[in-house]
Amino acid sequence: MDQIIVTGMKSLHGRISIAGAKNACLALMPAALLSEETLTLTNVPKLSDIVTMQVLLESLGLSVSDLKDTDKITLTSRTVTNYVADYEIVRKMRASILVLGPLLAREGRAVVSLPGGCAIGARPVDLHLFALEKLGAKLELRDGYVHATARNGLAGCYIDFPFVSVGATESALMAATLAKGTTVLKNAAREPEVVDLVTCLRKMGAKIDGEGTDEIKVEGVSKLNGAKHAVVSDRIELGTYMLAPAITGGNVEFIGGRRDLLEAFCNKLEETGIKISETSKGISVQQNEKRIQAIDIVTEPFPGFPTDLQAQMMALLCTADGISNLEERIFENRFMHAPELIRMGANIKILGGTARVTGVRQLKGAPVMATDLRASVSLILAGLGAKGETLISRVYHLDRGYEKVVRKLKGIGAKIERIK
Ligand code: EPZ
Repeated sequence: MDQIIVTGMKSLHGRISIAGAKNACLALMPAALLSEETLTLTNVPKLSDIVTMQVLLESLGLSVSDLKDTDKITLTSRTVTNYVADYEIVRKMRASILVLGPLLAREGRAVVSLPGGCAIGARPVDLHLFALEKLGAKLELRDGYVHATARNGLAGCYIDFPFVSVGATESALMAATLAKGTTVLKNAAREPEVVDLVTCLRKMGAKIDGEGTDEIKVEGVSKLNGAKHAVVSDRIELGTYMLAPAITGGNVEFIGGRRDLLEAFCNKLEETGIKISETSKGISVQQNEKRIQAIDIVTEPFPGFPTDLQAQMMALLCTADGISNLEERIFENRFMHAPELIRMGANIKILGGTARVTGVRQLKGAPVMATDLRASVSLILAGLGAKGETLISRVYHLDRGYEKVVRKLKGIGAKIERIK
């Protein structure tokens, strides 16, 4: 299995191009099930999760173009030949559940495996099912699969989510586009990836209002058409790479990076003493040799501080001046990176849902193990700031969400290699 070796303490300078957002793309691809015409997506990142979604959609009868030498993908769903999303694919990636709503809306039936456990928390899919039941689906859980039917089609309704869920909002949105009548989603997710899905669905002919607020209204239509859509830029990839020069010192510009999608994170980074400026092509980060200040963060749904940047921010705060408290409110088990950072000399105590990080002067390279996507990249970031060599195992997690991570970091002067 591949490993990554990082030799730390090199200051970083140059430019990094930000790719399209993985999590936006994973919701946009299943939207192709809603139309018989072709959906063309551009700015698609080359990631293993995108390939997993491609394989899943192909298993349902979609014809999906190859992503090898391009950032464009075409998805055509003339006929749905299979309405069963198999456990063998779904278990690899939880976002597979996003085919349930569109399949049901298009075919009136769907059988989708329950995703099962996950390293960062229990992550049930009850809110997806709650929304689809409200829309009139009959659901039955049998043999680890959700069997869903809507023989007479779905019907518009009022869905008040008990708490905010990105995926459940996306499921409900897609299903509601082809339901009879009006659907209102209350306490909907406001994430940029949800807004991007709505933008694309609207291009396909859907009638939707209110995206980016907590109340979204969908007027069902009888048919959706094909469309072309460029995937929104990846705010989590941006935030992750912004932390690299923040940790090592340097000056890096992020082409295509958008501060408006990452305001809460940028405000917190500035609070530590890091300088951020907007440029004509994106955003840049400057850090001189001064020690950064400790800060407190609380992860929340958008527009709050994103849970997907908590691990990476922790890597920065390990060497801050003072004590930082990081409270994780989205996933109950998302501190798996902490014991690995401790192996590198960090001083971290987990107290329930909060990690208390007492800044040390310097981290030291060590062999560490990645447990999930964001934890893996936080270890790379920590390695960039550490003295000596950090050897990271289980790097296949990284391939799920960071395109060309080694090449991008090498391009700004990092000493990093992927080895077999
Ligand atoms: C999306 O996951 C992202 N994934 C996650 O990115 C991200 O961490 C998360 O949103 C929060 O921002 C994709 O978009 C593919 P949720 P999702 O439903 O939709 C609970 C990454 O690293 N919940 O908003 O699955 C859930 O357990 C990843 O790229 C239920 O209880 O997240 C969590 O505590 C990881 N029942 C909270 O809600 C449900 O039916 C929010 O989850 C659904 C969710």
